[in-house]
Amino acid sequence: MANKEEKAEGKESSWKDFIYNPRTGEFLGRTASSWALIFLFYLVFYGFLAGMFTLTMWVMLQTLDDYTPRYRDRVANPGLMIRPSELELEVNRSNPQQYSKYVNELESFLKDYNDALQEENEQCPGGKYYEQDDIENIKVCQFKRSKLRQCSGLADPDFGYAEGQPCVLLKLNRIIGLMPLGEPYINCTAKRDTLLQMQYFPSGGQIDKMYFPYYGKKAHCCAACCV
Ligand SMILES: *[C@@H]1O[C@H](CO)[C@@H](O)[C@H](O)[C@H]1NC(C)=O
Ligand SMILES: *[C@@H]1O[C@H](CO)[C@@H](O)[C@H](O)[C@H]1NC(C)=O
Repeated sequence: MANKEEKAEGKESSWKDFIYNPRTGEFLGRTASSWALIFLFYLVFYGFLAGMFTLTMWVMLQTLDDYTPRYRDRVANPGLMIRPSELELEVNRSNPQQYSKYVNELESFLKDYNDALQEENEQCPGGKYYEQDDIENIKVCQFKRSKLRQCSGLADPDFGYAEGQPCVLLKLNRIIGLMPLGEPYINCTAKRDTLLQMQYFPSGGQIDKMYFPYYGKKAHCCAACCV
């Protein structure tokens, strides 16, 4: 019995010694000056690493332009954004609950184009490019949702879905510097043999040239249309 107790005591004191050894003054196996040196070493080491990282980051950032990304891979053909954002739209006009998700999506999409908001933007001369190459504060041309007439959701809050003439909104993805040749327009075709009556707003599906070129998000951004 006594033997066992002694052993247990010995173990306990070696643990205590490991944490703090009063004879050698070691704490966790090292003296205070040894710990201090270790901390100093890592302080210098990590300080140096952080400095290296900051320096290389800074050098890299110097090579970037704030306004246009260096690598632009989507220049060739701008994509189209479609709202409601579904490839297959199924509309049952006698079931408002069924199409309300589309109507809600269109409404929230067009919020940024409310006429009152767009008044803050520039009233650009239509029909020609709105070039602002040497201008510091790049302006954004108005796009009022009322231009979309029956599809504006203003006169008809159901966007035609209740009449079985659903509106689909298309938005051209912005590409920095893109200047389309000729008059850009959107042509929709139906995947069926019989003719489908379609109406375009603005008429002819035309995208006014004044919306080109685009100067990049940072330069070409405003409260009203930044999405
Ligand atoms: C359209 O909705 C109505 C009312 O909910 C329903 O009675 C009808 O069966 C639906 N039609 C189709 C083709 O789903
Ligand atoms: C739109 O496309 C259809 C089918 O490809 C074509 O017949 C029609 O002429 C085009 N409309 C315009 C305005 O280019």
